[in-house]
Amino acid sequence: MGKEDDRGEEYLFKIVLIGDSAVGKSNLLSRFSRDEFDTNSKATIGVEFQTQLVEIEGKEVKAQIWDTAGQERFRAVTSAYYRGAFGALIVYDITRSDTFESVKRWLQELNIGNKCDLEDIRAVSVEEGKALAEEEGLFFMETSALDATNVDKAFEIVIREIF
Ligand code: GTP
Ligand code: MG
Repeated sequence: MGKEDDRGEEYLFKIVLIGDSAVGKSNLLSRFSRDEFDTNSKATIGVEFQTQLVEIEGKEVKAQIWDTAGQERFRAVTSAYYRGAFGALIVYDITRSDTFESVKRWLQELNIGNKCDLEDIRAVSVEEGKALAEEEGLFFMETSALDATNVDKAFEIVIREIF
């Protein structure tokens, strides 16, 4: 499904990050692309994208990762972007049940429970996450943009899956 260049060496994949506002989509991307975390990150306006090179099975893969705004008022803009995507990471916050409830409303391919560093105020259990993913035939993983747990892995899985 990827795109090959003239030399047949490069692949380009479009991946979108979707999920409710403040679940940590932008921080997952900044952790993955720049190894950075921002405690005071501002809500994303519309859509932003970053290109990241990833090596999969010895091949250089260019992942174009689209970070969408979770706020309701941007829904019309952002949905236009994830329509053409090859893969998606649907992110929720393990400390906010409402963000997990919303997962069912999103176009579903990948299901990522973020902020797994906040175990003491967890509101969505690992079992609930797994069960929903199984029900919908999705991948499931918990991540932390804060301490970098599973961040590379989550992006690698979605890229591998469409490779
Ligand atoms: P929108 O752009 O509005 O859709 O939000 P977003 O999903 O991009 O959320 P963002 O990455 O801006 O993060 C929201 C807040 O959660 C920020 O204060 C982050 O510092 C915090 N945050 C993000 N990821 C984590 C994480 O893994 N652990 C913890 N503890 N906090 C996180
Ligand atoms: Mg954001």
